[in-house]
Amino acid sequence: MSQADFVVVANRLPVDRTPDGEGWRRSPGGLVTALEPVMRRAEGAWVGWAGQPDVSLEPFDFDGTHLVPVELSAADVQHYYEGFSNDTIWPLYHDVIAEPTYKRAWWEAYVRVNRRFAEAAAAAASEKATVWVQDYQLQLVPKLLRELRPDLTIGYFHHIPFPAYGLYSQLPWRKQVLEGLLGADVIGFQRVADAGNFARAVRRQLRYETKASGISVPDGQGGTRVALAKAFPISIDADSYIELAQRPDIQQRAKEIREGLGNPRKILLGVDRLDYTKGIRHRLKAWGELLEDGRATVEDATLVQVASPSRERVDAYVQLRDEIEMTVGRINGDYDSTTHTAIRYLHQSYPREEMVALFLAADVMLVTALRDGMNLVAKEYVASRIDNRGVLVLSEFAGAADEMGSALLINPHDIDGLKDTIVRALEMPAAEQGRRMRALRTRVRDHDVEDWSREFLDALSAFHDRASSATAAAEVDANLDEPEDASS
Ligand code: G6P
Repeated sequence: MSQADFVVVANRLPVDRTPDGEGWRRSPGGLVTALEPVMRRAEGAWVGWAGQPDVSLEPFDFDGTHLVPVELSAADVQHYYEGFSNDTIWPLYHDVIAEPTYKRAWWEAYVRVNRRFAEAAAAAASEKATVWVQDYQLQLVPKLLRELRPDLTIGYFHHIPFPAYGLYSQLPWRKQVLEGLLGADVIGFQRVADAGNFARAVRRQLRYETKASGISVPDGQGGTRVALAKAFPISIDADSYIELAQRPDIQQRAKEIREGLGNPRKILLGVDRLDYTKGIRHRLKAWGELLEDGRATVEDATLVQVASPSRERVDAYVQLRDEIEMTVGRINGDYDSTTHTAIRYLHQSYPREEMVALFLAADVMLVTALRDGMNLVAKEYVASRIDNRGVLVLSEFAGAADEMGSALLINPHDIDGLKDTIVRALEMPAAEQGRRMRALRTRVRDHDVEDWSREFLDALSAFHDRASSATAAAEVDANLDEPEDASS
């Protein structure tokens, strides 16, 4: 069996079945998009689930990547994926916006499935290979993999928030999860605050020492090794968005979208997975009230809300969809005219070309997440605005806010503040739009996804090489940008 020097382990493979069920196509998700350029370069292997229960597949090659499918039974999907990952960890780590459910049978499935992923990764990796584990579905894999293959260099990146200790400590398996993550040489987070929350949980729960970004972890042989826990904010392949935005057919499509909406003076846009973390209800409430107050009319502005289907068998998502669709129906019923609509609601997923056309058509982009690891849509929007126009309204609770201070930052819980900001965005003079958009675009272009993966992987190799030395954390830290003190 062929083994790779670079292996990504993620819950999902980077491909989906084509609609005819015969072939495969690259899936559109943020993680896949983020890692696509890295994989292309490294000719690595990717271990993950193909997205359907009870399907057994042999490893296969797709677009230069060796794909290693991990099989999940219907019960695994229910307990490990829908249960522990998306009904325990997801709500807990997003500040309990929805109530997390703690079920022992789900935890047992999570342990069992994490072991399966670790075994598949151990088999796919060559001697001294680098393995990069992705996200909250696989928090136990770093430790399990280190036990199976001590020769490997192991990185882990956490794409979602890591909560404050007071919330994290609810988790009945809080020690095991921390120990699982600490199996990695480098544990990457989106925000400095996430890395700080993690270090604090480690100090409180495990009593391990932390110094700057380094954590002293017992090596099982009486000594210690140092793991690095640090922020590496993820980004997008900015150039690919710029190229799409320059295409005449996509610019034409943007015009058609405007015309299709009756050429309102302004278009507002929301693009989200249909998830309770995204603040879609808050956005609809603010928009509905602006129409009610007469501060906006449907001839003036239309809100286009793309809400792509997600996790449709988890109760909280079923309920959310009902609530949103009822709200959209009410607002449209109250304010639509025969020619114009208040909200064009699209419960669908679109290819990247159509997304860029929407970004080009949108005068105002609304990102009102109540909590979000990063929010790549905010970055995709600004990368696509090659005309340096358009306004990004961005929640301060999205990781992207740390880097995108030139957006109009909002607290989505403050509906009056959100309404005022939407009005301000709709009325913003072109010169101010240009000044803000240029600053945002510079940031996204200067720190794209290749920088993200290179910085993470450089830190990983540098750190692993020196990890035997007790001073490794401090040394590596000193060589990284924006050193941060995680010990407070
Ligand atoms: C978030 C997570 C990813 C996940 C994606 C889609 O971005 O960080 O790990 O893949 O949502 O969710 P799904 O449950 O469909 O994989």
